[in-house]
Amino acid sequence: MQIPLLDNKMIKCKDTNVVWHKGYVKREERELKYGHKSGVVWFTGLSGSGKSTIAHNVEKILFEKDIKVYVLDGDNIRHGLNVDLGFSVEDRKENIRRIVEVAKLFVDAGIILLAAFISPYRYIRKYVHYQFKNDNFIEIFVKCSLKECERRDPKGHYKKARAGIIKGYTGIDTPFEEPEDSDLIIDTEKLNIHESVEKVIRYLQKERWIE
Ligand code: ADX
Repeated sequence: MQIPLLDNKMIKCKDTNVVWHKGYVKREERELKYGHKSGVVWFTGLSGSGKSTIAHNVEKILFEKDIKVYVLDGDNIRHGLNVDLGFSVEDRKENIRRIVEVAKLFVDAGIILLAAFISPYRYIRKYVHYQFKNDNFIEIFVKCSLKECERRDPKGHYKKARAGIIKGYTGIDTPFEEPEDSDLIIDTEKLNIHESVEKVIRYLQKERWIE
């Protein structure tokens, strides 16, 4: 049993006696029963751009429509599953690798997973996309200038980063590589939260993930 790592490396199961057990319920059967597609909606953008806010509002609306949906977001995952990871490039890679494996389980379970992670490096986002089929994956760039994210500064992190108290903060002293080929761009300096959420919902309908 091997699973992919970033940088085209593979990681092998430590124990060679581990065998994949295939279930009797296929993802397609779950989709039929639930009445919607399953897949990953991957929100990328600077801290403070609005990823989590949009994802949680989309979740609420989809939930009210009886859609199986769940949000995974950076801050929450780092309290549990990824509590051992920081913000070096290596740790950010491992952060995303684990999230991708979790996301695969959600997709297999027939759920629409809303994943909100800065995911600042282009090659890491490429890896993420590569792990899913095209029709199970949507990338949304939550666009907002650094200037505006700093003005919002909901967690006070930018202020601390500028003061050198937080090191390696995305946008300040580590890069955010802007996506060039996202499926959808939500510009939160131009759209309010209601319009942003509407745009995501309409896109999911257009792509026939939901009715
Ligand atoms: S990612 O780069 O590995 O994708 P992730 O989305 O999981 O980041 O976590 C981002 C959150 O961690 C931010 O919203 C912020 O609250 C917090 N954080 C703490 N330190 C940093 C840092 N150095 N860079 C970016 N975010 C940080």
